[in-house]
Amino acid sequence: METVLSISNLTKHFGKIKAVSNVNLQVKAGQVFGMLGPNGSGKTTTLGMLMGVVNPTSGSFKWFGEEPTHHIRKKIGAVLEHPIFYPYLSGQKNLELNAMIKECDPANIPKVLELVELSDRKDDKYKTYSLGMKQRLAIASALLNEPTVLILDEPTNGLDPMGIAEIRELIKKIAAQGKTIILASHLLDEVQKVCTHFAVLKRGVLVHTGPVDDVGRGSETVEVTADVENLNEVLLKFAGTSTINREDGTFQVSLRDGFRSQDLNKFLFENGVIASHLVTRKKSLEKQFLEILAGA
Ligand SMILES: Nc1ncnc2c1ncn2[C@@H]1O[C@H](COP(=O)(O)OP(=O)(O)O)[C@@H](O)[C@H]1O
Ligand SMILES: [Mg+2]
Repeated sequence: METVLSISNLTKHFGKIKAVSNVNLQVKAGQVFGMLGPNGSGKTTTLGMLMGVVNPTSGSFKWFGEEPTHHIRKKIGAVLEHPIFYPYLSGQKNLELNAMIKECDPANIPKVLELVELSDRKDDKYKTYSLGMKQRLAIASALLNEPTVLILDEPTNGLDPMGIAEIRELIKKIAAQGKTIILASHLLDEVQKVCTHFAVLKRGVLVHTGPVDDVGRGSETVEVTADVENLNEVLLKFAGTSTINREDGTFQVSLRDGFRSQDLNKFLFENGVIASHLVTRKKSLEKQFLEILAGA
């Protein structure tokens, strides 16, 4: 798969503050790549360097295998800070201005408005927009020049639950169109819900990187209920059982590496137990994230 971004030993110091230290990572085409880390861990600084607005202290990065140039940056759309929109102009007019500044085809405006679901509000003044709509307009603006990569910094900050859900759906929709997305977030569930791959930053140091799906592999927990007396006994006989916890008549079975909930289900059935309830729970990213941060 094509490497979209390759970062080597990227470092940024602000005086004594080591905002970003020797970061190495790769982002491949089609990934939704999350940069996860608590506030102050260096996410925005990293994105700033990638966009050419912050000068690295040392290290380098390449976009599409090439040195970052103005030309290459045209393939990248970014929503880094709240972009400047004119409150008394409509969404449409604001995008027209942005299209002019960025020298991109205004014919793209209806398309991006449609994508972010603002077509019906395009003629309303920007100042009448909700925060979520403002953020969607910012994303629309970043997509005006049809970039292959979209960069988002804390895309749901300050939004209400409805606005958050809309932005997350939008990110998935944009990813489904084949764009590569790089997003920074301090929210675990955001990364878990929208990203395919992620890196964890801790005080400017990259402490973990990998697919989101791998997190929790080998640490499946299965919740089981069955209307039989000997459920506990049968569960104990199952070779894949690591530990069993009982909570209000429900058994929480954590599985050994290599065992899946299907295996447990089959075993129960073969032992004459029909589960009335069987739910697989992965170890939460939160727990793993805390372990990653604690261990690094
Ligand atoms: N322009 C700057 N001048 C001095 N320190 C900065 C500047 N920008 C960021 N920092 C510091 O760099 C560290 C990383 O900040 P930042 O990249 O904004 O983290 P994040 O986006 O993960 O919250 C913080 O300690 C922050 O105070
Ligand atoms: Mg930040």
